[in-house]
Amino acid sequence: GEIDKNGFPHFMLKEIFEQPRSILDTFRGRVAKDNSEIVLGGLYRVIDDLVQAKRILIVACGTSWHAGQVGEYMIEDLARIPVEVEYGSEFRYRNPVITKDDFVIAISQSGETADTLAAIRMAKEAGARVLGICNVVGSSIPRETDAGVYTHAGPEIGVASTKAFTAQVTVLAMIAMVLGNKRGELSTDDYNELIHDLTEVPAKIEKILQQNEEIKAIAEIYKEATNAIYLGRGYLFPVALEGALKLKEISYIHAEGYPAAEMKHGPIALIDENMPVIVIATKDKSYDKIVSNIQEVKARNGKVIAVVTEGDDTIRNMADHVMEVPESTEMLSALTTVVPLQLLSYHIAVMRGCNVDQPRNLAKSVTVE
Ligand code: AGP
Repeated sequence: GEIDKNGFPHFMLKEIFEQPRSILDTFRGRVAKDNSEIVLGGLYRVIDDLVQAKRILIVACGTSWHAGQVGEYMIEDLARIPVEVEYGSEFRYRNPVITKDDFVIAISQSGETADTLAAIRMAKEAGARVLGICNVVGSSIPRETDAGVYTHAGPEIGVASTKAFTAQVTVLAMIAMVLGNKRGELSTDDYNELIHDLTEVPAKIEKILQQNEEIKAIAEIYKEATNAIYLGRGYLFPVALEGALKLKEISYIHAEGYPAAEMKHGPIALIDENMPVIVIATKDKSYDKIVSNIQEVKARNGKVIAVVTEGDDTIRNMADHVMEVPESTEMLSALTTVVPLQLLSYHIAVMRGCNVDQPRNLAKSVTVE
């Protein structure tokens, strides 16, 4: 049939392996052949106003909220528009300030998440303009928003979101680039270079997927863990949150994601020889700082599994295990670094005998609050 496992033991693994293709599907047809510009047809009617936005509010739940966190950093970084990221459930009940000058972006794989839907209805009532970033075509959120961009990741069956997340981040990257360039914050040269970098992401993920067996071997060592900590900084902080959520929801191991610098404000007390600490430590502007965070964990005998840039021997010599990703521009690094974390969670869950595609207590789409 159209939706089968295509030879993979689980939908989740199939969907992880589909990412080079699904990301391509997300940007293909939106990027000009010569990488000179990105055209988001779904935003055609609103783009000029969006460029002038005083503020953007992103509402979402779960993994989509993590994509939103990455989007906040991208849009503020490239376009200098203030962005706030809200959980649908908090936003709808906490009496937030919403004005008609605000743009709200709802991010949802299913387009049916009750809290996200309620949040956009509220924002519309307050006069804000509402956009959607959704995967399921014709679902409720796209029908109720003024405009939007489909992620085109294809059907996601595994309850744990994987390819939908990378597709959402891809769309947010495109929005940030377009806004940055139209606002004059991102020079055309830098814009074109970033577009080129985006087109190289699928091949980079292909390379990461080739480490599947090595990652499986790491999973074997940590499959009995009862806790795990994920650390990242900047664009990689939301990736730490997402890595921890993936582990929790399919393997039932308790995991926490933290901004690496927050470790010394509490979580460092948890570290002993039994604590796996997954550190996303690629070469970017906070590299030296994350290296010291790794040293702090090692000094307390924690086990470090680091996601590193290819060829990074400094961290290889300090960490217990490394998973390599090709070099990437910082802004797009979430797209590559999340992949080894998806695979690590997947293998641990399978080894623990968990139902990875349909974890206990979870539904693919949460249509009740
Ligand atoms: C992701 O792995 C989760 N199962 C869950 O957090 C999900 O992302 C959340 O329920 C939001 O769903 P949506 O994207 O369909 O709105």
